[in-house]
Amino acid sequence: MNVASAELNTKPLRVVIGVGGGIAAYKAAHLVRYFTERGHQVRVIPTRSALNFVGAATFEALSGQPVATEVFDAVDEVQHVRLGQEADLIVVAPATADLMARIAHGRADDLLTASCLVATCPVVLAPAMHTEMWLNPATVDNVATLRRHGLTVLDPAHGRLTGTDTGAGRLPEPEQIGELALTVLEDREAFTRDLEGKKVVISAGGTHEPLDPVRYLGNASSGRQGYALAEVAAQRGAEVTLVAGVTENLPTPIGAEVVRVKTAREMQQAVMDHAPHADVVVMAAAVADYRPAEVAGSKMKKDSEADFSTIQLTENPDILAGVVEARRRGDMASTTTIVGFAAETGDEDNSPLDFARKKLEKKGCDLLMCNAVGDGKVFGQPESSGWILRPDGRVTEVPQGPKTGVAAAIWKAVCETR
Ligand code: CTP
Repeated sequence: MNVASAELNTKPLRVVIGVGGGIAAYKAAHLVRYFTERGHQVRVIPTRSALNFVGAATFEALSGQPVATEVFDAVDEVQHVRLGQEADLIVVAPATADLMARIAHGRADDLLTASCLVATCPVVLAPAMHTEMWLNPATVDNVATLRRHGLTVLDPAHGRLTGTDTGAGRLPEPEQIGELALTVLEDREAFTRDLEGKKVVISAGGTHEPLDPVRYLGNASSGRQGYALAEVAAQRGAEVTLVAGVTENLPTPIGAEVVRVKTAREMQQAVMDHAPHADVVVMAAAVADYRPAEVAGSKMKKDSEADFSTIQLTENPDILAGVVEARRRGDMASTTTIVGFAAETGDEDNSPLDFARKKLEKKGCDLLMCNAVGDGKVFGQPESSGWILRPDGRVTEVPQGPKTGVAAAIWKAVCETR
């Protein structure tokens, strides 16, 4: 089943949330909330071991639906086939090593594995376990088998595990799992592993250009699109460096290395440090074109002698043009794909697309994502739409949808250019 993006917002989905027996099972309660708050109908199917961590009553109260674990529960309703057959989406979080092994090998020894075996809808697994278990060749093989069978296995986050230990194997935040799962529902290929072994550098957010120690010139970029690009690239197997300017408070994309910057010149430094080793560079940041020519060392006071009615500006470096120029000089691997962004309003003579065509030519990048902005569109919003432009004149329309979906469309276009 492929649920069109517009329908996703209106049509209630039947979502099965499978819960494995790991300490992160408590996060499944928030995942249930994520889907019910969006109007979807949730059935929770925990494993027997999951109920050692969170009681059935919690899941029943949050979902408003009965909870069962065994194929012999409510046999008259034939639950072991019906729940999986009727589901629009199955999300398993946490997916333990044992649970993934059972699903990978087609076992059906409890209600959750039976439901996965019968399902034809997208099945998204969010693994959580100790790093050694995640890296064990048996688990690596099981993950590969599950992916080969068409299930989506998300990469786990790095961070604090059960005790004081840290490493790969942490369950991502429920909101991240929910968004990624809805992206798979729209596009089953969204997390195909076509960026495995590739290094990508992505800039995100706006910049702050200081006037004095407490004031700055800034813009309305939230950073959401750049973060979504990082999240999707990492799930497609890339090694991601996210150069994050000033953004909303967003969760760190799973698996990405984040370099924090504030000004355009700091962003230029960070991008140029990492770009030479990258296979793909995406400039999604809204970089300030100008900065105050002088930065006051102390707070500008209204009653001082100085005239503050005019601010002298000086031009910032064009980071994207610098990356294109570095490639032309041969300072980067010749295979690098460079992607630019354009947020355009259009005017009385030009549509946003007209401006975007001119920008693509001027910037010399390989792809340009154009969003039409204005009237509260795009900046700070969870959804976006637009066009992907190529130098040969081809244009791909990206329909309105979550920014993770837009990111998936951009990565698909990137992989087609390579
Ligand atoms: N960009 C950049 N460095 C700048 C300005 C922009 O790298 N100093 C990048 C943005 O990240 C984006 C692309 O260039 O990928 C287009 O940004 P935009 O602000 O639309 O382009 P400008 O060249 O500044 O054109 P405009 O006059 O429309 O602002």
